[in-house]
This record gives sequence, C-alpha cells and structure tokens, in this order.
Amino acid sequence: AEESQNAGKDTLVMATNATFPPYEYVDGEEYKGIDIEISQAIADDLGMKLQVDDMDFDSIIPAITTGKADMSLAGMTVTEDRKKNVNFSDSYATGVQVIIVPEDSDITGPDDLSDKLIGVQQGTTGDIYCSDTPENGGYGEDHVVAYQNGASAVQALKTGKVDAVVIDNEPAKAFVAENEGLKILDTEYITEDYAIAIAKDNTELLDKVNASLAKLKADGTVQSIIDKYIKA
Ligand code: ARG
Repeated sequence: AEESQNAGKDTLVMATNATFPPYEYVDGEEYKGIDIEISQAIADDLGMKLQVDDMDFDSIIPAITTGKADMSLAGMTVTEDRKKNVNFSDSYATGVQVIIVPEDSDITGPDDLSDKLIGVQQGTTGDIYCSDTPENGGYGEDHVVAYQNGASAVQALKTGKVDAVVIDNEPAKAFVAENEGLKILDTEYITEDYAIAIAKDNTELLDKVNASLAKLKADGTVQSIIDKYIKA
C-alpha cells in the first residue's frame, strides 16, 4: 500500500489570496478573516499546525495540484471547471456576485453592462462569467479588465478606468465601505458555494477536512466565526 501522504506531517499548508475581506486580508503583520479562522479551527481539530501561504488567486489551484499547498480556503466558489483539477470539501459559506458602480452611474443592473467596461479580479468567477460570450450570459473579453485583486479593480472604478466592478458581495461591501462615492447594485445572480480545495489524489485529507468541518458546523464554530466578521 502507498504511504499515506500526510503521515508524519504536522503542518497543514493553506493557500489563499489575502485581498478578499472579510474572508482573508492582511491586518498589519497578520492574516485575518473567516477563512483564516476556519483553517485554524480545522488544523486544531486535526492536531496540526497551520501555515498560511498568500499568493495570487489564480496561482492557488496550481499550488494545490502540484502539492505546494495542502488545501485552500479563499472564498473559492465551487465550479464544474475547477472540479476537473481539484476536489472540493462540503461547502462552508456562500457568496453572490454583485455589481459595484459609482453612485451617479446610469448602470442599474446586469443588462446595462453589455456596452461597458467591467473590472474584475483575475481568475475569479466574476472574471469568468463576465468574460464569457453574450450567448453564454457574459459580455465578452473585450468588455473585461482583469486586475490582480479586487481593491485594484475598485481603484480603477474610482478613477474612471472601468464603469463597474463585478465581485463577491462581502468583499464588495468592504470595498464600498472603504471608498466614498460607490454603491452596490442588487443583482439576480445565483448564490455560489464556497468550499475548500484539496488535491484530487489526497482523498485522505479531504475525508479528514470534511469530518472536521462537520464537527465545527455542528458545534457552532463555523457560524460564530462567520458572525464575527459578517454583521447581519
Ligand atoms: N468566489 C470567487 C471565486 O471563486 C472569488 C474568490 C476570490 N478570493 C480571493 N481570496 N481573492 O472565483
């Protein structure tokens, strides 16, 4: 039999992109947020140490598939395409894509974006949906400008380089709170499930993480972490 991948390993390496408040962000010298705390709770439950590796969002799946990281919590949406490369745990949170515009914008919803320029974070579902062809509900690549993180997309919006930003609802709230003159439009986009990405061949870790997650959901830990960062 194969040697267990995690045998003798006492550190759980967690890949994330800490530009996504309130899920993960840098506060001074510290990583903070829902995903950081849930990762820590999982590591504690498994009797392991946690190491957080901060990287570009679109480097996360490659880091998982090449074994540089064991798991990722990054507000990452479960998609059929990503499932071709990684396994996902049970979901622990949800998100919705929203549209941020300047307060005085004439954009009132998704239908108004077809002749506009949209800022997104590179490699995110917002990027993927918006870059898709109009037949598939997108606006086409020519209408999308991808930035390394959401904050840069929001800065581009403030300086008029793009007309709107499409991003997950909770980071959207955080960015709008930090920047004057912006608002979030109500959208009818569907709810996305956030889950933990793990290498396809590491089903042992997947099973352990799902067991931990079930425990941490049942005893209220996951909800209390979420409530700490997201005020109803
Ligand atoms: N939920 C979106 C996705 O999966 C955005 C996630 C971005 N996460 C981050 N840590 N920057 O594509």
